Order: sequence, then C-alpha cells, then structure tokens
Amino acid sequence: NHTMSAKPFKVLITHPEVPQSGIDLLKENCELIQVQSLPPSRTELLQKVRGVDGIFWGGHELLNAEVLDAAGPQLKSISTMSAGLDNVDLDEVKRRKIPLGHTPTVLNPAVADLAVGLLIAAGRRFHEGRKKIETGHWENYHLNWMLGQDVRDSVVGFYGFGGIGQAIAKRLSSFDIDQVLYTTRRRVHREIEQELNAKKVPFDELLNKSDFVVICAPLSAETQGVFNATAFNKMKTTAVLVNIARGKIVKQNDLYNALKSNRIFAAGLDVSDPEPLPPNDKLLTLDNLVIMPHIGSATNRTRSEMATIAAHNVLRGLAGERMLSPAY
Ligand code: DGY
Repeated sequence: NHTMSAKPFKVLITHPEVPQSGIDLLKENCELIQVQSLPPSRTELLQKVRGVDGIFWGGHELLNAEVLDAAGPQLKSISTMSAGLDNVDLDEVKRRKIPLGHTPTVLNPAVADLAVGLLIAAGRRFHEGRKKIETGHWENYHLNWMLGQDVRDSVVGFYGFGGIGQAIAKRLSSFDIDQVLYTTRRRVHREIEQELNAKKVPFDELLNKSDFVVICAPLSAETQGVFNATAFNKMKTTAVLVNIARGKIVKQNDLYNALKSNRIFAAGLDVSDPEPLPPNDKLLTLDNLVIMPHIGSATNRTRSEMATIAAHNVLRGLAGERMLSPAY
C-alpha cells in the first residue's frame, strides 16, 4: 500500500549476493525485493519482478522482453552491475523508453591488471612451466628451454580501444613497448593517441604487425566471431592473443587449432564460449593457453564500486534524473 509506505519505490535486486554498498544506498528510500536462489532462478525473478519501479540487475542473465513484460508498465529504471550489455535486449529496453544504466569505467583498472597478467603469463608460458614441474620435466639443461616472448620493444595491438584498452596500454607503457596499434570504429582523441603512442590501423594491419593482440571490444553483431582461422592466419607465429572481453568474439574452435598447430604462440583468456567452460573442453588440454574463469572485475573494491554505481543509476532513473552511466 503506497500511501502507507514511507518508501515510495519498489526495487528488485536480481541476485542474492549484491555487495552491501549497493543495498545500503537503495534501502534508504526503496522497498527492496531480492531474488534469493543461487544460481538465480528465472522463475523466482519473473515472480518477484511484478510491479516493481526499478531493477538492480545483478547477474549475467538475459534481460529481455519477458522480464520487462513481467515487470509491467510502471517500471521506470534499470541498471546492470556490469560493463558489458550483451545480455540485454537493448532495442526492447529503448523501445519502451526505460532508462538503463551500467557500470563501465570503475572496473577498468582491475580488468587491465588481469589483462597484463594474462599477456605475460601466456607470453612467458606460466601454465606450461607449472606442468613441466608437476610431470618431472624440469629440463633446464637445454639452453633454449621454455623461451618466451619479450614485452620490451613489442607492438601491442588492441581490438577495441575504450577505457579498458587504454588502461592496459597505459600499464604496458612502463614495459618499454615499441608501439600501440588499435582497431576501432572511431578514432580516439589525438591527446590519447599521443600519450599512449597509439595509431589507428585497419584490422589486417593490426593482425600482421602485432606481437600481442588484446581483445577489449564489446560483443556485438559486428565483433562476433571476428577472430577466426582467417584472422589467426594473418598473425605472427610468435604472436600472443589476449581476450578479456567476451568469448564469442573468438571462434573458439579456430583458436584451438591455431594454438595446437603453433600457428600462433599462445593465448591468455579471461572469457570463453560457453561460460562456464566444460571441464573436459579440449581447450584445457593446451600447454600454450592460460585461462581464467571470467574474473576481470573480481576484486572487493571493484565489485563494491560497481554496486554503488548501479544503485545510483537505479535511484537517478527513479527520480527522473540522468543516470551516472547511462547505457544509451
Ligand atoms: C562486465 O562487467 O561486463 C564483466 O564482464 C562482468 O560481467
């Protein structure tokens, strides 16, 4: 009963483990309803979403017409707690003119740190080295044993060069790299290019000139499957591929073949297709692959800041104000 309630808005939190920073902000003037099941249940979500004014979208589940229909026409504000929006039917949200926010930017440092880690781990054979020890093949009497790729004086190519890509390039500049190349739709500001020694190039040039290729573009119809056998065949045989974006940007079977045949040197992945990757996936048999279970933003501070921003987005949407980070 709204007239009796001190709290004017009902907000659904779609996940039971949303950081407290987000909950605290929302509970000040919202009645909170929270999905309790883990993994979050679609049935519970669709029941609890009925009649809410705002949604804090905590997980990676599909946010589509089904959810918006179940919520009802009073819904006036949604924010995801993620940078990526590939799990959102954006056209459907836009068509209904519902303000939608997300949480880019705050996760740039954490994701960039992980990307640098993967780049070095793959280039210097961390996974293979560990296996050599475990299997009793510590053979450093060979002078050319376990040689990897230098970061020094390398060309690093970015497929997508937004906040995350730029944060990676900034970190790598202290490794004395030679040059940053990038492929994007739009050129980044001249000052950023100068600061990072970065040059926009066509995709083919990115592939054949880069020693390290880092994927940091959003998943879209345009980027899906772009890294396929044709692309791998244009890369240097010494090249290392890093993907911290979305698994579907890479044709994973083609990547497997490129790594297995040493067509490229190694890869470092934080993302795969599908997620979770099945424990018996053939990718996991490769020595020259370092892989993490999508943990780019997984630090206490980053997740807490993501929750804060998502909560502010929801509150602003409810108040009819511009969100901190609107998705459109
Ligand atoms: C993001 O924020 O998009 C990360 O991939 C976690 O979902």
